[in-house]
Amino acid sequence: MAVLVTGGAGYIGSHTCVELINAGIDIVIVDNFYNCKKSSIDRIRALVDRDFKYYECDIRDKEGMDKIFKAEKIDSVIHFAGLKAVGESVEKPLEYFDNNVNGTLVLLDVMRANGCKKIVFSSSATVYGMNNISPLTEDMPVGGVTNPYGRTKYMIECILQDLYTSDNSWSICLLRYFNPIGAHKSGTMGEDPNGIPNNLMPFITQVAIGKRDHLNVFGNDYATHDGTGIRDYIHVVDLALGHVKAVQKVEKDEGCFIYNLGTGKGYSVLDVVNAFEKASGVTIPFEIQPRRAGDIAICYSDPAKALRELGWKAERGLEEMCEDSWRWQSQNPNGYPD
Ligand code: NAD
Ligand code: WQD
Repeated sequence: MAVLVTGGAGYIGSHTCVELINAGIDIVIVDNFYNCKKSSIDRIRALVDRDFKYYECDIRDKEGMDKIFKAEKIDSVIHFAGLKAVGESVEKPLEYFDNNVNGTLVLLDVMRANGCKKIVFSSSATVYGMNNISPLTEDMPVGGVTNPYGRTKYMIECILQDLYTSDNSWSICLLRYFNPIGAHKSGTMGEDPNGIPNNLMPFITQVAIGKRDHLNVFGNDYATHDGTGIRDYIHVVDLALGHVKAVQKVEKDEGCFIYNLGTGKGYSVLDVVNAFEKASGVTIPFEIQPRRAGDIAICYSDPAKALRELGWKAERGLEEMCEDSWRWQSQNPNGYPD
């Protein structure tokens, strides 16, 4: 039996595939390679001692997905596939709703038709919206999201919860990620954004490698220790290990479970810049800019529920996240090869 990993060639998916195989779990990857390179599959292969199959398929392609379920023995699904750029989602809401929400509906329909009712879903801290005060706990109200991307995550959470209500034989795990950064220790796998990075760490590493001349810091007038925004950065390998625990949970227990995957610690933009400079030995020039629309001052998790129920907690600190991000960027200045 295998876990089908949708979006398994992407940033978080690829790291999760390595940790699943390390844990002795068979995988099958489905990706349309819209936001990644095929060479990420070779990099996964080079790190593991067990072969696996991958399919180039869009999750919205019902026939294609059905063929995969018929050809493989799929026991459960980890569903990463989706579009994730907040700004782009404001420009292209229909594409985001189609890819993320419709894509998930097609996937769920094909799963049900093939008797597979176990799914782990990539949700996001963004579902907590603007109004909750950190540390964020899973029982806080969700849905006050400010952009179409966030709305797709909230809508998919609602769909999965309604699905469980309608049929209690499903096992569903909603994982709310905080801010994943870092890379595999080998330096061979990491985050490889197309174009100008939206997120802080890939922007910093591109400044460090000389692709961009400075970092824009969005706002220094928040009510935080240095005025810059605070987030809960989590090492992507810790996040990947959280998925191993989550898939084991849905294999074992029926229910609809929700977990934050974060460290519980918040760092400001300037804390991250300083930690990165220390880890890399490279100075990061920055300029203070106005606040970015839609940003909140402080967002960090209470990760206690995941520890209590999954036995999972993040082990890697900010220094290690910065060292590993830099190793990946410096060894692969242009990301994955074509
Ligand atoms: P990513 O873009 O690197 O990975 C997503 C993968 O899905 C890509 O390889 C892409 O080619 C594939 N994909 C997209 N649409 C597809 C489709 N219709 N059919 C098949 N494959 C498709 O992104 P990531 O950072 O690894 O994020 C993975 C998931 O986690 C996403 O759902 C994202 O929304 C969610 N998430 C990410 C973050 C983050 O900061 N990176 C935070 C919270 C949640
Ligand atoms: C972090 C901090 C910025 C870039 C986003 C999504 C969220 C989730 C994770 C998917 C903030 C500041 C950033 C830059 C900066 N993704 N910043 N200069 O906004 O917390 O979360 O990614 O689900 O849904 O919204 O992450 O990395 O963009 O920003 O000063 O060039 O860094 O203002 O304080 P964010 P981020």
